[in-house]
Amino acid sequence: MLRSQIIGFGSYLPKDVVTNDDLAKKIDTSDEWIRKRTGIAQRHIAADGELTSDIAEQAARAALENAGVATDDIDLIVLATATPDNTFPATATRVQSNLGIRRGVAFDVQAVCAGYVYALATADNMLRLGQAETALVIGAEVFSRILDWDDRGTCVLFGDGAGATILRAADAAGNNQDRGVLSTHIYSDGAYYDMLYVDGGPSTTGTSGHLRMEGKEVFRHAVHRMSEVVVTALEHNGLSIDEVDWLIPHQANKRIMDSIAKRLSLPEEKIVVTVDRQANTSAATIPLALAEAASDGRLREGNLIALSALGGGFSWGSALLRL
Ligand code: ACO
Repeated sequence: MLRSQIIGFGSYLPKDVVTNDDLAKKIDTSDEWIRKRTGIAQRHIAADGELTSDIAEQAARAALENAGVATDDIDLIVLATATPDNTFPATATRVQSNLGIRRGVAFDVQAVCAGYVYALATADNMLRLGQAETALVIGAEVFSRILDWDDRGTCVLFGDGAGATILRAADAAGNNQDRGVLSTHIYSDGAYYDMLYVDGGPSTTGTSGHLRMEGKEVFRHAVHRMSEVVVTALEHNGLSIDEVDWLIPHQANKRIMDSIAKRLSLPEEKIVVTVDRQANTSAATIPLALAEAASDGRLREGNLIALSALGGGFSWGSALLRL
């Protein structure tokens, strides 16, 4: 029996920081409104010419170093993104090439803000089946390129960034019995397609389009599904919420996270929060938060970590990890 273990974390944030006050100089908004409704104070924005593959590569290199793994060891790259460099080929193949990897398989996964959980589930299943040994699982986005900067209801919510993790297949017996990715659960329901979407694409307008959102509906479903799917994961493993050391939810909005904590009866201190400094970086939020909590020493060996996300589609899911 094989099980995947997360052995390294890495992240990359573009240099340019844009505060709420900076935005208020260009659009009709205020620091107070944004903070109160979302908890966001600032976001990182990619430089002109800085691509999803560039920031993904930076995060990947950091994760490889953190894991002490050579690029030659990677035989699977799964990149979660809704903002690929080009319509095709997969941005993961460019990351593969930039890292000098000529073997294995590299592909993208598209589940918007749930993308990292989908990518993790995909990589975990492949490792458990023995189809690969060492995987690079990345969430990377440049949402700044698909925002309508005249729509104050959406453009203030997002940022750019990338997070990466290294997974390695290990024997699930002996010391490893209780360690690694314990479970993943992923779901989608396309009846909600129009709640959160981009109004362009190759087969519709032929342009990239801009993000459109029914904010209140997204909020409601995010709280409901992201809580529900943590309960599903815990029940599947015969564990209780009290045993969770850290909840790392998709970082869309601090109020969504507070509501989830309340529903789950989880102390707020057990939630890793980055949305205040990074805003919503879609598929990148969870691996960015994992990398931050790993590097500042919050994540420790033996910790039980729950991941939970919802994005366009709607698509949602959870993962339970034992470090
Ligand atoms: N600055 C100032 N005023 C604003 C802004 C802004 N940036 N945006 C909207 N407003 C105004 C509106 O025009 C409206 O004014 P009105 O009352 O005069 O008409 C007022 O604020 C209230 O607008 P609502 O849209 O009703 O505000 P709401 O309380 O729903 O908050 C928000 C909006 C923050 C988007 C909220 O619905 C939300 O967080 N939803 C979740 C969406 C989300 O996080 N999506 C991310 C992608 S999905 C995911 O990651 C899970």
